[in-house]
Amino acid sequence: MTDFHDSEGHRAGQDFDGLKALVTGGASGIGRAAAGLLAARGARVAVLDLDPSSVDEPLTGHRADVTDDASVRAAVAAAVADLGGLDILVNNAGIGARGTVEDNDDAEWHRVLDVNLLGVVRTTRAALPHLRESAHAAVVNTCSVAAAAGLPQRALYSASKGAVLALTLAMAADHVGEGIRVNCVNPGTVDTPWVGRLLDAAPDPAAERAALEARQPTGRLVTAAEAAGAIAYLASPLSGSTTGTVLAVDGGMQGLRPRPAVR
Ligand SMILES: NC(=O)c1ccc[n+]([C@@H]2O[C@H](COP(=O)([O-])OP(=O)(O)OC[C@H]3O[C@@H](n4cnc5c(N)ncnc54)[C@H](O)[C@@H]3O)[C@@H](O)[C@H]2O)c1
Repeated sequence: MTDFHDSEGHRAGQDFDGLKALVTGGASGIGRAAAGLLAARGARVAVLDLDPSSVDEPLTGHRADVTDDASVRAAVAAAVADLGGLDILVNNAGIGARGTVEDNDDAEWHRVLDVNLLGVVRTTRAALPHLRESAHAAVVNTCSVAAAAGLPQRALYSASKGAVLALTLAMAADHVGEGIRVNCVNPGTVDTPWVGRLLDAAPDPAAERAALEARQPTGRLVTAAEAAGAIAYLASPLSGSTTGTVLAVDGGMQGLRPRPAVR
């Protein structure tokens, strides 16, 4: 079989050979799957997380809170020193929020925007000087279908992810001239510890899970591996002409209107 590779010799399957990546929120769920996949495809990968204690070889863990600029700068510097440079930043750390626009007080709005939006700003700001040294620089932001579709009881969360979507496009425009690509993924509901916690808190977890599954035309939740696959696609040097895009990984939730089955 002919080996597939790009013009610079990166082979498909090992397309991250020699590249260095940092994944925020990489100790759980989508971030953990993305860190593992990038490593399996040849990257050296560091994880930045509030609690990196579960991160093990070949990944390295760095403790930081994306709401704290000093801790982000220290963790990015330590990761870059360990890795020997930085080519890929995955801004994935995030938290949820529930309710309509009436339900969350100002403190909660500030807290969620601080993590979900300003977290992306802080890590990207710290990483940019290093990304500028890379010939294959890429930033991938974990956004959400909530940025593109109106979901009930998600006013604050949706606003935070809508801002991440707009920021992704603005950053892509700002940095395209220096060879840094910026894209985001919009997952639907993904089967991660986060969603497990949501289901556990529901009055009827089985009914809640069935409702979430039915909302996605595929009839099931997205897997963390599938979200990771999309992140790796955007981060890969094989996607060198892809910047400023929003990639849905939502089982068709945002774009499709299938007819309900007729009984
Ligand atoms: N699970 C879903 O259905 C879903 C859907 C769309 C988008 N997303 C997005 O995917 C991302 C990951 O979600 P997940 O489901 O894997 O969640 P998760 O809770 O399983 O993992 C999130 C990780 O982020 C870390 N984190 C949280 N706050 C942090 C902070 N202040 N500083 C550093 N690290 C922090 C946590 O410690 C955790 O390891 C989030 O941005 C979320 O908004 C999730």
